[in-house]
Amino acid sequence: MMTRELEAVPLSPALGAAIYGLDLTRPLEEEDRVFLRKAWAEHLVLVIHNDAPLPAEVHMDFCRIFGEIGARARPTQARHEPEGAPQNVMYVSNKRENGRIIGSIPDGEMEFHIDQSYMEVPAKAGCLHGLELPAEGGDTIFGNLCLAYEALPDDLRRAIEGRRAVTSYGHGGYGIQTRNANDHSTATRRASHPIVCTHPDNGRRLLYVNRLMTERIEGLPDDESEDLLFRLFAHQEQAEFLYVHKWRRYDLLLWDNRACIHARTDFDPAQTRHLRRFSIRGHALT
Ligand code: SIN
Repeated sequence: MMTRELEAVPLSPALGAAIYGLDLTRPLEEEDRVFLRKAWAEHLVLVIHNDAPLPAEVHMDFCRIFGEIGARARPTQARHEPEGAPQNVMYVSNKRENGRIIGSIPDGEMEFHIDQSYMEVPAKAGCLHGLELPAEGGDTIFGNLCLAYEALPDDLRRAIEGRRAVTSYGHGGYGIQTRNANDHSTATRRASHPIVCTHPDNGRRLLYVNRLMTERIEGLPDDESEDLLFRLFAHQEQAEFLYVHKWRRYDLLLWDNRACIHARTDFDPAQTRHLRRFSIRGHALT
């Protein structure tokens, strides 16, 4: 029997691939799953364009190819969720039902971050499905932390050798999400991770800091920590390590949340941006 040919087409020199030939409305063969796991390990971000919205069950089954669906991180302010929403779902949404926003992180720009990096065990992966999108903006930008580590200048590499950083998130959840707006001082959720972690699947080293949530480097005076962090952020956010995803309606996008930072560009809050997200359970980073 003829099988469909799956194809992974790179989206940028740094990371990301679009998968062609996959029909998620039909049951997948084991060889499809093997192909997807291999493509994900190689490209860190996978994008599948779809012609129609995927039911939550199909979205979840896709996530299960890569691991176990994890609990969603509770947003700082409880959100109203749509009726019948599946357990562990998170809507990244500015959509309103009865005047109330039904999702989390609804509006505005978000600086580079790693989901749940303020937890001891952050998610291994995130998977977003774009259901309603603004005409312009609201792009999601991904950065490859393995490449960023490998390209570190010697002085920066020496400065972070063996060091750990504290990550926290105390943002209320509305509006622009920047380091300045993130209330590190009162954040209740805080974790310490090595700045240089080893990717559990391939042994590559990665630069595990992010502008929005990394609060300080342990064992350094505040001004030195801040100076070093800003040099690391500027380094890892260089265009050569990035892929900018311009959403098409019904895209399904999976990213490696250990090896990627991601950010969101601004968009018109009068336009609806509504995405369904699941996270895949991770392991502590070492
Ligand atoms: C997220 O950080 O999971 C949201 C990204 C986005 O809204 O594009």
